[in-house]
Amino acid sequence: MSKISKIGVLTSGGDAPGMNPCIRAVVRTAIFNGLEVVGIKQGYKGMIENDMYEMGTRSVSNILNLGGTILKTARCLPFRTDEGMETAYQNIKAKGIDGLVVIGGDGTFTGALRFSQKYPDIAVIGVPGTIDNDLYGSTYTLGFDTATNTVIEAIDKIRDTADSHDRLFFVEVMGRDSGAIALRAGISCGAEAILLPEKSTALADLIDHLKNGATNKKSSSIVIVAEGDKTGGIYDLAKAVQNEITHYDIKVTVLGHLQRGGAPSSFDRVLGSRLGFAAVNALIAGQSQKMVGLEANHIKLTPLDEALSHHDFKLESDLLQMVEVLSI
Ligand code: F6P
Repeated sequence: MSKISKIGVLTSGGDAPGMNPCIRAVVRTAIFNGLEVVGIKQGYKGMIENDMYEMGTRSVSNILNLGGTILKTARCLPFRTDEGMETAYQNIKAKGIDGLVVIGGDGTFTGALRFSQKYPDIAVIGVPGTIDNDLYGSTYTLGFDTATNTVIEAIDKIRDTADSHDRLFFVEVMGRDSGAIALRAGISCGAEAILLPEKSTALADLIDHLKNGATNKKSSSIVIVAEGDKTGGIYDLAKAVQNEITHYDIKVTVLGHLQRGGAPSSFDRVLGSRLGFAAVNALIAGQSQKMVGLEANHIKLTPLDEALSHHDFKLESDLLQMVEVLSI
């Protein structure tokens, strides 16, 4: 068992729905176990700028349903420097913090790992919080389910217009280098094609596939393009297809940041609560430099360096095969 007495909690990188339920679980689990909790504002920036406050059980009342993060978040370049890290360390030491829960994605974990290697007297546990679903060691990251549902809602609406006008829509979705949102949303919305960073698609094959759809009397088509896809950018792609397929009026929609906000789904509220609870219990058990994740519906601890080094996270091959069959 560890000697942790005071933990700091922060959210860093892109916000993700489910971060608030996680913060709530961290605060209440810590207090239940007799620990003090400090909320660190704007991720590592708050550590450097000393922007922190003591949190109590009531500081996290009525936040389960809120998107974003009450602690705010930032992508903090100074934390990548030795000077920035040293200032952050001195500030949290002065507050008496001896354990940290960091909620974020791969950038957040890279910072957390470096920090805890440099200052091993501060125990660090990571919680995977990113809509991109791209961390090894957790089947799902916080926010992925909500973001995918948001995308589905938007594409269902686009389908109404596509169908009414016999149009072909290209829709770009987020995910950075991961096609996880694109794949799930594409299956859920019956997309005619899904372009993913993990799988190259030849333009000629895409055009053939869309032409076949038209021959098979499809009145509308939707092509989902993951932002990390390398086929050539959604606008150029749409133009190239329009040159070959003239009977469809082609439109482009980039969904953008609306995918990150909104009330967390039931799944993300429960996942955030489970991971926050598990993160504090891991600190109490003396763990450090680990990520808490969910695998086969069980909590699992993965070393932070492993969670990061297996970054070439693979999409499920059965889903990829199924898409081709179901979109004929
Ligand atoms: O990591 C989450 C994410 O939304 C990615 O899908 C996207 O590439 C990126 O963040 C956008 O970052 P920003 O909000 O800083 O523009």
